[in-house]
Amino acid sequence: MATIAPGSIDLVIADPPYNETKLKWDKEVKGWLKALLPLMAPHASLWCFGSLRFFMNHKDEFSPDWSIMQEVVWEKQNGAGPPDKGRFNRVHELIVQFRPTAVPPNQIRAHSPMTFDAVARKITARKGPGHRGEYASTGYETQDGGARRARSVQRFKSMHHAAVHPTQKPGELVRMLIESYSNPGDLVLDPFGGSGTTGVSALMAGRRAILIEKLPHFVALCEQRIEEATLQPELIFG
Ligand SMILES: C[S@@+](CC[C@H](N)C(=O)[O-])C[C@H]1O[C@@H](n2cnc3c(N)ncnc32)[C@H](O)[C@@H]1O
Repeated sequence: MATIAPGSIDLVIADPPYNETKLKWDKEVKGWLKALLPLMAPHASLWCFGSLRFFMNHKDEFSPDWSIMQEVVWEKQNGAGPPDKGRFNRVHELIVQFRPTAVPPNQIRAHSPMTFDAVARKITARKGPGHRGEYASTGYETQDGGARRARSVQRFKSMHHAAVHPTQKPGELVRMLIESYSNPGDLVLDPFGGSGTTGVSALMAGRRAILIEKLPHFVALCEQRIEEATLQPELIFG
């Protein structure tokens, strides 16, 4: 991080180790939130994946330097791991947006997150005047030609069998965050690159990206996926 120019990062996507599994690399990382602060452009925010337990355990590292803007719930199609007696089947993760506390919220770069797969609204109208004045369905219609402001609960299939990394995030989800909170050409930083999802998503969205990853075999994965995306984008998101 020390080699990144101060003030040069327009958006951060972070998916840090939660320190909640037996995976070798899933270990506490300290100091990254402090190190990020000087790198942030005046309009930059940070989207961080995590469980509520993760955010509670790291409360003192986020606060007071970072303030919460909003959170999104990522709903997966199925839970991870074996059933755990006495617990709900966990099918979600949180993604929380933070701003540096010194930056006022209205200075943060943001475009309305939109979705185009809105559920059609059934339009019911009086058909008539019928002799009993009954109502009848006149079909289905979506508002705004199908585009709606995206909901804070977002459903994306988890990667599971398609994954090349044990905690790989869906590219389309990351791309939605990138497109909604940065501009074309902006520089996105991911301090925990994993399999390179942020790099691929940034590429798809016409942004630049810097990825940092500790383990050499994951670095190789990042390079491979980014190269594949450059050559054949349709292979990456299916
Ligand atoms: C939750 S995974 C990220 C997965 C990624 N979002 C994806 O979609 O592939 C976290 C990653 O952080 C890496 N990591 C762990 N400690 C690190 C450190 N100190 N610096 C950089 N990367 C680290 C791990 O090797 C792991 O690949």
